Amino acid sequence: MRKKIVAGNWKMNKTASETTELIDALKNQLSPSDVEVMIAPTFVNLQAAVKQTSDSHIEVIAQNMHQAQSGAYTGEIAADMLKDIGVQTVIIGHSERRAYFGETDAILAEKTKAALDNGLRVVFCFGEELADRQSEKHFELVASQLKNALFALPSSDWNNIVLAYEPVWAIGTGETASPEQAQEMHAFIRTTLAAAYDDALAQEVSILYGGSVKPANAEEIFGKADVDGGLIGGAALNAADFNAIIVANK
Ligand code: PGA
Repeated sequence: MRKKIVAGNWKMNKTASETTELIDALKNQLSPSDVEVMIAPTFVNLQAAVKQTSDSHIEVIAQNMHQAQSGAYTGEIAADMLKDIGVQTVIIGHSERRAYFGETDAILAEKTKAALDNGLRVVFCFGEELADRQSEKHFELVASQLKNALFALPSSDWNNIVLAYEPVWAIGTGETASPEQAQEMHAFIRTTLAAAYDDALAQEVSILYGGSVKPANAEEIFGKADVDGGLIGGAALNAADFNAIIVANK
């Protein structure tokens, strides 16, 4: 049975004191559920967040990491630094990293391999831009993003990979893919995985949807057969909204 997951990507939001406050609110407000709950605060607040959540079922994850093991990469963070402070999962390939920081499929392949080799779990993000969808290239584009970054990995690595399909045109725009568009793409992703590996593996990989998920639309999106949860940006910054989205993942 694949896992149901709701992950909050806090992006470049929340100071240290605001992080503590939001985690306190989450710990008070989260309803019990069988959904795996993750939050991704900024690097500077990770260690405190790991400590603060140690008595809860909230997992603290990182938003990014560098592919090298260590060395002269000013401003960067390595996998073993994350592991050392108790982080076990890292988001790789978010569209903002691709768009603003030049992260190509080749770099993301290296980052993913480095994360997995260091024993981290990866939430791997990908998805088409509006122009790709308008020119009906979205399936082709998504298949190539997966192939270029992930399909050289051995089957055994897939126990530690969660996929997050995030159409770029739906991120932070208020425009969500319809539940039908999400399901259509998630089913395609699973078929693509089955072709590259096998059906048993494809059935076990959790595929999250991301892009303007809100309490008002979460239940309908999560209700689709191949949608196993969500990667949430804006709505993860409010405890009540984040809880409502978690509860919607039945
Ligand atoms: P959003 O962001 O929910 O604010 O659209 C999603 C994401 O970037 O992961």
